[in-house]
Amino acid sequence: MKIAICPGSFDPITLGHLDIIRRAALLFDRLIVAVLVNPGKNPSFTAEERLDMIRRVVRDIPNVEAECFDGLLADYARLKGAHTIVKGLRAVTDFEYEFQMALINRKLNPDTDTVFLTTSSQYMYLSSSMVKSIACFGGDIADYVPECICGEISERLSKRKDN
Ligand code: PNS
Repeated sequence: MKIAICPGSFDPITLGHLDIIRRAALLFDRLIVAVLVNPGKNPSFTAEERLDMIRRVVRDIPNVEAECFDGLLADYARLKGAHTIVKGLRAVTDFEYEFQMALINRKLNPDTDTVFLTTSSQYMYLSSSMVKSIACFGGDIADYVPECICGEISERLSKRKDN
């Protein structure tokens, strides 16, 4: 069975992430969306909230599941018996960082390769940070996040602004 991991902060998951997940799900028997518990970026949503949103969003994709992980991705991949890490690439600016991460992960776990999927063009500019900025100022994020979590994200982040 070909198992792959799609790791990230997913703070929150966007339509860009979902596009990569759906396309990766066609390439592997089992795809584990792995949510980093403490991305060191002071996440806006707790790991449980991020995980819950992802699970709702991927509910219709039978070979996709979601979990939280902490520590090294290379160790987590080993634990899960996954030989592939899937990452999305939006632009050349993503490449240097992702290239470095791929090399480090392969050094830490030589049984694992990183595979990059090019973003769909409509999501080139999309990021979780951008979604959060728009939502914080009360903007409409419907074009950027899955419909079933759109209201929850807007409500949470616009409330945060009032606090
Ligand atoms: O969505 P992001 O923030 O770009 O995801 C980054 C992520 C979670 C893939 C990356 O930070 C990661 O794998 N972190 C786990 C720690 C690790 O293994 N680091 C590499 C060796 S320094």
